[in-house]
Amino acid sequence: MPAGSAKPYPFMKIKPPGPKARTLVNLDSQFVSQSYTRNYPLVADRGEGAMVVDVDGNCYLDFTAGIAVCATGHSHPKVVEAITRQAKRLIHMSGTDFYYSSQIALARKLSEIAPGRKPKKVFFGNSGAEAIEAAFKLARYHTKRTMAIAFYGAFHGRTMGALSLTASKTIQRKSYIPLVPGVVHVPYAYCYRCDYNLTYPSCRVSCVDWIKDSLFRSSVPPEEVAAIFVEPIQGEGGYIVPPPEFHAKLHQIARDHGILYVVDEVQSGMGRTGKMFAIEHFGVEPDIIAVAKGIASGLPLGAMIATADIMDWTHGSHASTFGGNPVSCEAALATIELLENGLLANAATMGDYLIKGLMKLQPQHPLIGDIRGKGLMIGIELVKDRSSRAPAIDERNRVVQGCFERGLLVLGCGQSTVRFSPPLIIDQEDADIALGIFSEVLAEVEKGVSP
Ligand SMILES: Cc1ncc(COP(=O)(O)O)c(C=O)c1O
Repeated sequence: MPAGSAKPYPFMKIKPPGPKARTLVNLDSQFVSQSYTRNYPLVADRGEGAMVVDVDGNCYLDFTAGIAVCATGHSHPKVVEAITRQAKRLIHMSGTDFYYSSQIALARKLSEIAPGRKPKKVFFGNSGAEAIEAAFKLARYHTKRTMAIAFYGAFHGRTMGALSLTASKTIQRKSYIPLVPGVVHVPYAYCYRCDYNLTYPSCRVSCVDWIKDSLFRSSVPPEEVAAIFVEPIQGEGGYIVPPPEFHAKLHQIARDHGILYVVDEVQSGMGRTGKMFAIEHFGVEPDIIAVAKGIASGLPLGAMIATADIMDWTHGSHASTFGGNPVSCEAALATIELLENGLLANAATMGDYLIKGLMKLQPQHPLIGDIRGKGLMIGIELVKDRSSRAPAIDERNRVVQGCFERGLLVLGCGQSTVRFSPPLIIDQEDADIALGIFSEVLAEVEKGVSP
């Protein structure tokens, strides 16, 4: 831990993976599916706030929040209390066939906090993919249209419907094709690497115009498109923040053709960007919102929020045995209360602080190509050199590994981006620790020393 710090982390007792971690990783390789995407061997034993302790006693500062899930930090006492209270009362009954108050209370709360003035209704599943799957089915059901537009770089999940919308990495689709027919992918407003080789703002966000001027004229009849699926800020694709007018322009195209605007807030939602939903930064009222990850501080829960006029499917059209389980719903209600009572504001403040800190580091670190983000959804894209912008893929992987070895947990996203997605409870000292380790590791990788 840093000298003079009151924090118990980072504290590296042994170079990871230690002996206990190595044993468990070996057992895992014997018994657990190896399709997962682990980049380094963190074997977590317990978590508290922004800290994760591994099985060998190493204490890490967690800037992953379990892939942007533990919004309130690990095991927040108020969330644990809500879970315990509910678990003692009723663990499961199934909202598919029965009623219980926590599901109704959460649906009401989500309807109230979701952007847009229209009344809303909520469908509950267990994950992000299920929330997207439900949105895809509802969009087809309501519009009686079959097609969907999604974006290159998008990640919407891995079940067949959600995977059909996903176009983040080929490996995620390889050997599963054909997927659900009727999905067309178009370029996202990834201005640092524009697919059209244009520059913002002189491009006037013409990547959006291309949809109406080319796509709809050449191959996709707009009257057959049920929905546009879009992440307000692309997550797995590289923490890409589109220009301010992107969503309003895209939304207008949807409006003009009776196409539903579905925003995937699975990663960007529930306070991560300093607003409850990232789409609020762009002033657009979506028809459908998919949320999961941060909603219940780590318990499995996904929700699809739609305006009540759109959620017109009938009994038996869609359901889920575990979706909206009472314990997860109570965890979500506790989470939202914490977000509203300080964590949203903290995400905005700490996000600004981290971005300013990263900007200060940029002149000393040629690897840093682009810094972008909102609130605590921050991406640092690494490049081999700033003029060619060639993605520094290997270097990014070494930075992620080097941070792990020094007690800072981060993940990659996109081709060569490091993402900061810490719990929304972090303070200035946490941010300084993370910036210090990140800078040290960057310097080593830049020197060509393998960390
Ligand atoms: C934007 C987005 N949508 C959907 C998903 C899928 O969520 P899950 O893994 O809970 O199915 C993810 C997961 O990373 C995501 O980031």
